[in-house]
Parts: sequence; structure tokens; C-alpha cells
Amino acid sequence: MDIWYADGKFVPEDEAFVSARDLAVLRGFGVFDFLRTYHRKPFYLEAHIDRFFRSADVIGLKIPMSKKETASVIEETLSRNPHLEEANIRFVFTGGSSPDNTLPADNAGKFYVMVSRKQECPASWYSDGVKTITVDQKRAFPEAKSIDYIAAIQAQRQAKSVGAVEALYTDEKKRVLEATTCNFFIVKNGKLVTPGDGILRGITRMALLELLDGKIDVEIRDISLNEALDADEAFITASNKEIVPVVRINDSVIGDGKVGKTVKQVTAWFREMTDRY
Ligand SMILES: Cc1ncc(COP(=O)(O)O)c(C=O)c1O
Repeated sequence: MDIWYADGKFVPEDEAFVSARDLAVLRGFGVFDFLRTYHRKPFYLEAHIDRFFRSADVIGLKIPMSKKETASVIEETLSRNPHLEEANIRFVFTGGSSPDNTLPADNAGKFYVMVSRKQECPASWYSDGVKTITVDQKRAFPEAKSIDYIAAIQAQRQAKSVGAVEALYTDEKKRVLEATTCNFFIVKNGKLVTPGDGILRGITRMALLELLDGKIDVEIRDISLNEALDADEAFITASNKEIVPVVRINDSVIGDGKVGKTVKQVTAWFREMTDRY
């Protein structure tokens, strides 16, 4: 059984509890972040912690810990799970109990760190690419990784029902923003394009942008739905998926419907980087 950190204590995962009075349970008020290890080293831990604090700021939740303390609890949780070759790490800060069950009280929030065996995605996603759908939905606080994934659950259900792996959010301006748990990129005439507004700033996206600097042209700007459907290639990125080629959006085939050469090249560079991490 994995050992988790639950509000000040390291406990077997089955003994990590949240109070039913917590605003996370009553109102969906809380933030989290999620990352993975490479060679047992948490990938871009600092960037994930920065985003965790930014998410809390965006929704107005105060985390009464320093970033350094947060990092050391995460590292300690990982070190108490030596049986995990590679891990997924999820850390959560809840709203805590509140006298009126609505407004957060000072210093009431609870911090949890959950580690588990790194989940693998099906190999066919990478070799053949995946189908996605679009859904006309938006996240309430796009820049925050809040615990509210209601829109994502609805959209993923819809995706699964038609054999798609992910759903891309489109907004009233018919922009494609991101997927429910991934960022979105297209390739057109050898150039990469990825949105910069209305999205969660993914750490995989950030690591990839750093890596591609000077190697390939990348434009950070809105992508219209028409442009996405007309792309030469498309892919999604996330901590638990890395880079997954998208070969179909709704009923439209992207490019020639096969995994394209740019996504293959970008994936190879990413793999080289993570192999060395
Ligand atoms: C809405 C959303 N966008 C993008 C991402 C990708 O972020 P990251 O690369 O940090 O995993 C996630 C990750 O869960 C997400 O939930």
C-alpha cells in the first residue's frame, strides 16, 4: 500500500481522509496539482508548485505554507514509497471547514500528497494517434487547477461514448482552447501553434516550449476551430500522457490521418530530454 501525506501525517493511503465538512466536499473549493517522476525525480516540481500557489491565488485560497515546505513534504512522501519505480504525484489543498459552510476560514485548509504507481497510456495512442471531439464548454477559472472538473467529466463521457480519447473545449469565439486534461497544439506548414489565453498553463507545454526554442518555430496565439480541422498535424500534451498525436477531431481527419513527421520529431526530442532528466 502506498504511503500518503494527509494533513500533517504520513499514513497508509486507506487512512487518508477529508472531513465531510471541508469546503472541498461541500462546495468544490480547493486546488491541486499533478506530476510524474522520471528516474524517481519529480519532473519540474518547482514549476508545479508555482502553479499550485497561482491556482490558489486565482480562486482566493490562502496556502499557509512556503513553497519550500510544500516541496519538502512532496519529496518526503516520495521517499517513503521506495517500492514505486516511477510515480504519479497528486497534491491537494482544500478549502477546509468553514463556520457558515461557504466562506473559507483562515488557516482551515488541509494539505494532502498522494503518490501512486505511474499509470501508462495505451501504446496505440502514440503509434496510431487518437480521436478527439470538441465540446462547447469553458472552465470557470482557466488559469487555475481547481478541484472542480465537472465540465471535464461531462466532456470525457461524451468523448468516450463516440470512441474518442479526449474532448477539446471550444468557446463562443469558436477558438479551440485546450482539452479537458491536456494542452493543444497544431502544426501548419512546419510551424507549431498553441493557444496562450483561456487555458491552464501546462507544465508539459512549458517544458516543450523551452525545449523547442531555436529548433522549430512556435506561435503562441488563438487557434480557430476551422484552423484546427485544417491542420497538417495536431497533438495534445499533459504530464500523464506526454505528447499524444491527434489524428481526428469530430468527423474530420487531421492531415492524412496518420501520425505526422513533426509530432514524431517533437516526441523524439522530448524523449531524449526526459531520458536525461
Ligand atoms: C485543463 C488542463 N489543461 C492542461 C493540462 C496539462 O497540464 P500539465 O502538462 O501540467 O499536466 C491539464 C492537466 O491536468 C489540465 O487539467
